[in-house]
Amino acid sequence: MSWDKKLINQANKIIKQYPQKRSALGPLLHLAQSKDGYISDDSIEVISELIGITEVQVKSVSTFYSMYKQEPTGKYLISVCKSISCEISNSSDVIKKVQEITGLNNNETDEEGIFTFEKVECIGACGGAPAIQINYETVEGMTPESTESLFNWLKENQPKVIVADILQEKFGGTRSFEWGIKDNSGTIASVPGFQNFNTVGESK
Ligand code: FES
Repeated sequence: MSWDKKLINQANKIIKQYPQKRSALGPLLHLAQSKDGYISDDSIEVISELIGITEVQVKSVSTFYSMYKQEPTGKYLISVCKSISCEISNSSDVIKKVQEITGLNNNETDEEGIFTFEKVECIGACGGAPAIQINYETVEGMTPESTESLFNWLKENQPKVIVADILQEKFGGTRSFEWGIKDNSGTIASVPGFQNFNTVGESK
């Protein structure tokens, strides 16, 4: 096994929460992804040993869900929604703008490892369509112009923590609804922000 002791302990704590070890597969894949940014072959082997299922079974789940990445992504994962509400609110123009700026096709990462671009299905922000996510932090009401400004800001500042509220305030338009409470926490890597997996940070 090549996970360090700390990670193995963390994995065992997760496993204990379930009546059957194999039920911990999803959270363990998240843990693996928070370690490397994607699901490595090594992690597949470790998880298979920890919960007593075959590597093929681990792999089949990790490749079924698109949020488990099979390769390293760039520092910023740009996910642009292409589902119906966004589509009828001109998400194709936002997609075109992202591709024009980055030169990337769907699921590609640039050579510098800064941006990965992907088109995704509904991200639950239909009321503020078109919506995009940077490292899973959502911004609603995007236009090609605001997309360009957002990329310029990301390139220039390369923020360590990506916070939805900050992005929304700077670049977003119409929102699904007002959350009321400002949240200064966000993701510190191109994986979903989970307190348990130490992938959440505070913007200063
Ligand atoms: S259709 Fe784009 S967020 Fe729902």
